[in-house]
Amino acid sequence: MIEMDGLTAVILAAGEAKRMRSRQPKVLHPLCGRPLIGYALRAARVVADRLVMVVGPNAEGLRAAAGEAVTFVEQRERLGTGHAVLQARPACGPGTVLVLAGDMPLLSSETLERLVNHHKATGAAATVLTAVVERPQGYGRILRQGGRVKRIVEDRDATDDQKKLAEINTSVYCFDAKRLWKALAEIRPDNEQGEYYLTDAIGILARAGGRIEALAAPDPVEALGINDRGQLAAAAAILRRRILDRLMAEGVTVLDPASAYVEDTVTIGPDTTVYPHVLIEGATTIGRDCVIASGCQISASRLGDRVKLKPYCILTEATVEDEAQLGPFCHLRPKAHIGSRARIGNFVEVKNSRIGRGSKANHLAYIGDATVGEDVNIGAGAITCNYDGAAKHETKIGDRAFIGTNTSLVAPLTVGDGAYIGSGSVITKDVPPGALAVERSQQIVKEGWVARRAAKSRDKDEDD
Ligand code: UD1
Ligand code: CA
Repeated sequence: MIEMDGLTAVILAAGEAKRMRSRQPKVLHPLCGRPLIGYALRAARVVADRLVMVVGPNAEGLRAAAGEAVTFVEQRERLGTGHAVLQARPACGPGTVLVLAGDMPLLSSETLERLVNHHKATGAAATVLTAVVERPQGYGRILRQGGRVKRIVEDRDATDDQKKLAEINTSVYCFDAKRLWKALAEIRPDNEQGEYYLTDAIGILARAGGRIEALAAPDPVEALGINDRGQLAAAAAILRRRILDRLMAEGVTVLDPASAYVEDTVTIGPDTTVYPHVLIEGATTIGRDCVIASGCQISASRLGDRVKLKPYCILTEATVEDEAQLGPFCHLRPKAHIGSRARIGNFVEVKNSRIGRGSKANHLAYIGDATVGEDVNIGAGAITCNYDGAAKHETKIGDRAFIGTNTSLVAPLTVGDGAYIGSGSVITKDVPPGALAVERSQQIVKEGWVARRAAKSRDKDEDD
């Protein structure tokens, strides 16, 4: 049931976004870990009772990204922002209609709340969120008369004098629904682009004697609309700083906010230190008292508490339990699960494997499709040969086993608890618990061989 004073948010996302020069829809471009549209949706969700999104044809990706609780309406032809809002009419309630563009990632829900409250308190026909900006080029300008908003002129239709105005239209508005639909019916595409401009609804309402209110965004960056990749990067820089500010307020030490790249989807516990030149992205969770040294790249991974990452660790979809130590230069691939207090050292790669509590692989190893028990020692150069050219096979290594250096463990293979593997062995058969397995040819020792060879070559020289 639609309440009389309910608020419908209409998010415009059907534009062609030519300026992005992309095959991907503009609002699906990733920005600090979320699609661009996610930010407008998140802000609108806080204030609105109903969410309506205007999308173009072939917007399956966008529909999937926006998720449930959104009503989609299709704008088949992109005839302008006014035409776009009109398509949303059947999905809107009778109360207030909040219109916003889908390409405004820095807009906050607090500002939307202030806009809605101001609109309701003044009983205006429309309330425009404006901003005073240093470089107003490209934006619609607010034209006032005796202080009151009279209309909005688009940059391309503005006179040189109007272009000097610094007060711009952010493309966020509250409308009284009834008056909005009436005004939209009167809009004509008599402008430089031949489009139905939503901005014209403001002039139409003012001329009809309606009260137009303007509320300035407290921070003009909130107005930033993403039309090209330069603006996308500018928004990302501001968002990244906001994300780091939030983490620092939560107790994380960020040694160099200028070079730490942390996405919006990341959570980090207090007293964790993030060194310069670190990238942490996706759904990553890091516990408290951890150290993330320079050069680490962590994607969609879970780290417990007191985990130490030395420089240049690469983690993707990995889990690392409390007090484990990684690196420098280790590579955890999807489904690597490192137990507590385990150590994974330099040039060690782990994929789809569990490494038990306290186990160590400190140098130059590959562990794939393996289950490694607790307190196991994996020597330098040890390899699980998990792939036979056709299929992947599993290796099981029991607790306290000792895998000598340069061992090849040819899977499928089980090494029992406490078993020892001699260095340089190629192990193809299961090793029972507590056994020693060595697979290499006997060492030959010839005493005095060096001196004999030297004598031989001396004799040869004298003969010549
Ligand atoms: C618009 C405003 C301008 C304001 C600026 C703020 C108009 C005419 N101009 O200009 O006053 O200063 O935003 O960033 O409204 N869209 C549709 N269907 C269409 C056309 C656009 O859904 O037919 C959507 C776009 O996807 C976008 C939004 O509407 O999310 C704004 O369109 P855009 O082309 O970016 O307008 P601007 O030129 O930026
Ligand atoms: Ca825009």
